[in-house]
Amino acid sequence: MAESTPHSVSPALLEGIVPPEVVARTEKRWIMTMVTMLLIMVAIIVVTGITHALQPASHVEVVDPQTLHLRGEFVESNLGTAVEPDGSVTVRIVAETFAFVPHCLVVPAGRPVRFRLTSADVVHGFLLPNTNVNTMVVPGFVAQVSTAFAEPREYAMPCHEFCGLGHHAMWAHVSVVPEGRFAEMTPYERTSCAQQ
Ligand code: CUA
Repeated sequence: MAESTPHSVSPALLEGIVPPEVVARTEKRWIMTMVTMLLIMVAIIVVTGITHALQPASHVEVVDPQTLHLRGEFVESNLGTAVEPDGSVTVRIVAETFAFVPHCLVVPAGRPVRFRLTSADVVHGFLLPNTNVNTMVVPGFVAQVSTAFAEPREYAMPCHEFCGLGHHAMWAHVSVVPEGRFAEMTPYERTSCAQQ
């Protein structure tokens, strides 16, 4: 004799088939979970944007990459560190395969510093470790990041977007110097890595 005993199956559903009201309840819970996660992620973006000064990669400002060297803000004589009338500092850099121009940048500690970058050819990246400065540098656009450095420090600045065979060698330096020392430096010294 077979051991099997008849299961108590509800007349409407076979075993293993979930009733529609249970499916609806589960789906509703998943939607609530997803919406909650989305809201948390949006809140994280907003909070870090405000408290850590994270900024979008592009400043939504266009520039012609083919005439950078001929006219406009990014001609060679205008690159490097400039002091604005309000005392803040603007640094202009062109990224190109496989170098940052200028290669060396000196900025003061304790003052607002605004980096403005663009690319002459392909996409590069600009990163100062442990700061809010981290942006893609896209040809045709100006990337702008505002920051301030509390302490003097040397930053090695790697290109962090793969841009070709020389990508690994695309480095520059940002040297954050004390306020007093910066004031004494000549414009040439502010774009030089030479020891003063
Ligand atoms: Cu430039 Cu990688």
